[in-house]
Amino acid sequence: MAKIVISGGVPLNGEVWISGAKNAVLPILAATLLADEPMSIGNVPHLHDVTTTMELLGQMGVQLVLDERMKIHVDSRQARHWVAPYDLVKTMRASILVLGPLVAKYGSADVSLPGGCAIGSRPVDQHIRGLQALGAKVSVENGYIRARADRLKGAHIVMDMVTVTGTENILMAATLARGTTVIENAAQEPEVVDLARCLLAMGAQISGIGTSTLVIDGVERLHGAHYEVQPDRIETGTFLVAGAITSGRVLAKRTRSDNMQAVLQKLEECGAEINTGADFIEIDMKGRRPRAVNIDTAPYPAFPTDMQAQFAALNCVAEGVGVITENVFENRFMHIQELQRLGADIRVDGARAIIHGVTEMTGAPIMATDLRASACLVLAGLVAKGDTSVDRVYHIDRGYECIEEKLSGLGARIRRLAN
Ligand code: UD1
Repeated sequence: MAKIVISGGVPLNGEVWISGAKNAVLPILAATLLADEPMSIGNVPHLHDVTTTMELLGQMGVQLVLDERMKIHVDSRQARHWVAPYDLVKTMRASILVLGPLVAKYGSADVSLPGGCAIGSRPVDQHIRGLQALGAKVSVENGYIRARADRLKGAHIVMDMVTVTGTENILMAATLARGTTVIENAAQEPEVVDLARCLLAMGAQISGIGTSTLVIDGVERLHGAHYEVQPDRIETGTFLVAGAITSGRVLAKRTRSDNMQAVLQKLEECGAEINTGADFIEIDMKGRRPRAVNIDTAPYPAFPTDMQAQFAALNCVAEGVGVITENVFENRFMHIQELQRLGADIRVDGARAIIHGVTEMTGAPIMATDLRASACLVLAGLVAKGDTSVDRVYHIDRGYECIEEKLSGLGARIRRLAN
């Protein structure tokens, strides 16, 4: 199994380009199922989850071509097999995103119950309840969600909790429903906004985009469009933390700062100087050790759970004590015991991790357990003294494009070993 080995202790210094957002491209690819005409999607990140999604759509009969400029040309007119099989869904929970489009467009979907990151139970009851409200008949049989419908009908749906993919599934389904759908307590994450903008480009009628109430007037059909995926705010944040944790300077290019305020505020609190422009963010620690920060995760616009593990790594070597409170997912502290193996001083108390910064961590073999946890371990390796080898890096390849090349470009001593 591939490993990443990092020889820590180098302050990062340089520029890095940011890829398209994983959590935006996955729903956008699912949305191509709704179109009556070919689509093209640009700024697609080269990620394992994108390959899995292409495989998933491909086995349904969708034709997909990835060109050399990382643009995907999609033609879903031949889609015939409206099934998302367990083998694909178990590796990527976001496969659930085909459920809404399939039932809305073809009236039939059989989607395996998802697997994905092992971060809590992560049920899909809100997806199912929303589709039922739109008139679909949904049952769970033999580990599959089986949804059937004639044309869906608009409905007023109040989500029990803020769910990103749940909102996206219902939003996509509602675009082709007869009449008006209102989704209250909708997720406001920038990736939901990106999906909604892509749907608008396809001819959907949606208002309230970026707010907690989405209003969708169903249309008869959606046409083809070209859409450029927004930059990845979580990848951006991860590279900024890489700058902070190494007391270095990192300029993230081809990104945006307007949807990253909570993360940028925390970086400033830890002592970073931040400079932003239309398409870049620069962080400069001026050689200083970071100060510990308290983090409370919550839905957007609050601090994202997908940046929690990276800030846990930062607190490990920061000055003072930082408390990380994870409010979105249970069981999202699996990186903590790996950080402890590097010498971090952390006590977990339920959903809180209390981290006393140490002046030095030391390299050790550690293991990635989920996508964002693996990024946190790489960050810790950048500052730990000696060699840190991170095992099970397939988790990182799901969500970070060329991470070792990008970090090497910033001066990190990092390499991948095949076995
Ligand atoms: C998405 C992101 C993931 C991010 C998460 C929270 C994608 C592909 N993934 O995951 O990176 O960490 O948002 O920002 O976009 N819940 C239920 N019932 C449901 C749905 C969710 O109880 O039907 C709960 C979950 O267990 C969790 C919370 O709601 O506690 C939020 O989860 P949700 O927003 O749905 O996460 P995902 O959409 O799976």
